[in-house]
Amino acid sequence: MNLIERPRRLRRTGTIRALVRETRLSPEDFVYPLFVCEGEGVRREIGSMPGVFNLSIDELVKEVEAARGVGVQSVILFGVPDQKDAAGSQAYAEDGITQRAIRALKRETKETLVIADNCLCEYTDHGHCGVIEDGEVLNDPTLDLLARTAVSQAEAGADIIAPSNMMDGFVAAIREELDESGFEHIPIMSYAVKYASGFYGPFREAAQSAPQFGDRLGYQMDPANSREAMREAELDCEQGADILLVKPALPYLDIIRAVRERFDLPVAAYQVSGEYAMIKAAGRLGWIDEERVALESLTSIKRAGADIILTYFARELAGRLA
Ligand code: PBG
Repeated sequence: MNLIERPRRLRRTGTIRALVRETRLSPEDFVYPLFVCEGEGVRREIGSMPGVFNLSIDELVKEVEAARGVGVQSVILFGVPDQKDAAGSQAYAEDGITQRAIRALKRETKETLVIADNCLCEYTDHGHCGVIEDGEVLNDPTLDLLARTAVSQAEAGADIIAPSNMMDGFVAAIREELDESGFEHIPIMSYAVKYASGFYGPFREAAQSAPQFGDRLGYQMDPANSREAMREAELDCEQGADILLVKPALPYLDIIRAVRERFDLPVAAYQVSGEYAMIKAAGRLGWIDEERVALESLTSIKRAGADIILTYFARELAGRLA
């Protein structure tokens, strides 16, 4: 047998494999999503997301410091307010739970990069991401509230604003209002491509944000579409997005790859709650090796083209990557 090409030569030892490895995960790639709630000393585990908690501000600070200790530098915050109303007014209240949490983090752990998720669904009593009239989510009136929310988040000290509600024109509306308020230096990480996904189930338990009627199919994207994803990303680029985010991640690796190839902005991918829950659940049953599968999923997301990965595994796995 005279085989000249033998790819196995480069797989013989761990050292050789490490030398030729194309994709490497680092804790610096990760953004750690956290849920902040009212109270003190609260650390309430989410049933469908073992290892993920609703945290009061004091506990949030501890969690972020612990994550920093293993190399996680960035977090994204979701507020879980006590009071909700039709207009989601706690989303843009100066003393809203998210605004207070941002201030606390900026005071206690200055170097941490704090990203503010910008949406209304956690703050509205109907659980939709915008203003409702006759059972419809209105686009343009919602934009004003998102822009107001963005300014209040920037005033509290947020380093990046991450609008996630999929209204048309949200990047432009937020950019304009941030600029007018003296926050032209604050980047927007747009959830440019966000699918109407069943994988968000556990998040809605964590954020108590399930829609009380209907669904999000009228504003989030149809999972069957990929050309439409390019159109969404294009529009957000034109409106001044600084980072493009694709969500969910693993079921949409083709989309991550396509966005990577077509646009030169940094690409982020969100490994969402359902992706996390599946790995945790199968791990608990002893059906898969949880850590191995988690690392493999995250590596695949990076290999597909993501520069930044939002993942609930951030703290747990960062220590493994050192
Ligand atoms: C909306 C938002 C959602 C997620 C992040 N931002 C939920 C939704 O659209 O219903 C889901 C994230 C996850 O599932 O981990 N504010």
